[in-house]
Amino acid sequence: MSPINVDVGIIGGSGFYELFGLENKVEERIDTPFGVVKIDIGELYGKKIAFLSRHGKGHKYPPHKINYRANAFAMFKLGANYVLATNAVGSLRENIPPGSIVIPDQIIDFTKNRVYTFFDGEFKIKMKDGREKGGVVHTDVTEPYCNHLREKIIKAAENLNLKIIPRGVYVCTEGPRFETPAEIKFFKMIGGDLVGMTGSPEVFLFKELEICYATICVATNYAAGMQARVSHEEVLELFDKIKPTIAELIKETIKLL
Ligand code: HPA
Repeated sequence: MSPINVDVGIIGGSGFYELFGLENKVEERIDTPFGVVKIDIGELYGKKIAFLSRHGKGHKYPPHKINYRANAFAMFKLGANYVLATNAVGSLRENIPPGSIVIPDQIIDFTKNRVYTFFDGEFKIKMKDGREKGGVVHTDVTEPYCNHLREKIIKAAENLNLKIIPRGVYVCTEGPRFETPAEIKFFKMIGGDLVGMTGSPEVFLFKELEICYATICVATNYAAGMQARVSHEEVLELFDKIKPTIAELIKETIKLL
């Protein structure tokens, strides 16, 4: 464990690189067996908060090059009980227009070339309760996102009078390209609601670490074939508009934890 101990970790996705209002903020470099992670540590409502930017400061890492294991392990090392993330996503549904906020409850993984686990046979982790976890581990992902945290986000939205969509199926693609219209048609057929590039393996790694993790997804566009074109500029532009609302939702959720 690290000498710093936090209550809540925040992982900011595309367009979300800083949590304004963090008190007594300091930047720390957290060493993990998978690399060093830069994290802002601060306080909010009397709780210790760790904020990390998933794509790195200045959006350096594309989705397939993010060091997901280092990011998740850094939160584990800091002792985070909860990790709350944000993801920009494309919408697969006419009734989820751009600007919608969705709290997914399921995920379908179509990534192809990522490191999905800490447990490759060698690695051992000392858990908070003293258990040693390692060797061959098959993790139950019946509830991929932590429902306890999802419920807190939903309650926080209610407190703020903010309309959100309380569940949805996130389809994760490898990227960094956007999808073809044929892929989107297929994702719709198999029950997807949202498409993004960073949901996996992040959610599964937190499951392995037994950290309560959930994400706030922002639909920044209709997916390919549902609108004329999809562009990264459009994704960032929409996220930028909704960022203050997402920050309020995160802060209200922290209050409730
Ligand atoms: N596809 C994949 N990832 C995304 C999209 C999309 O349409 N929009 C924002 N992130």
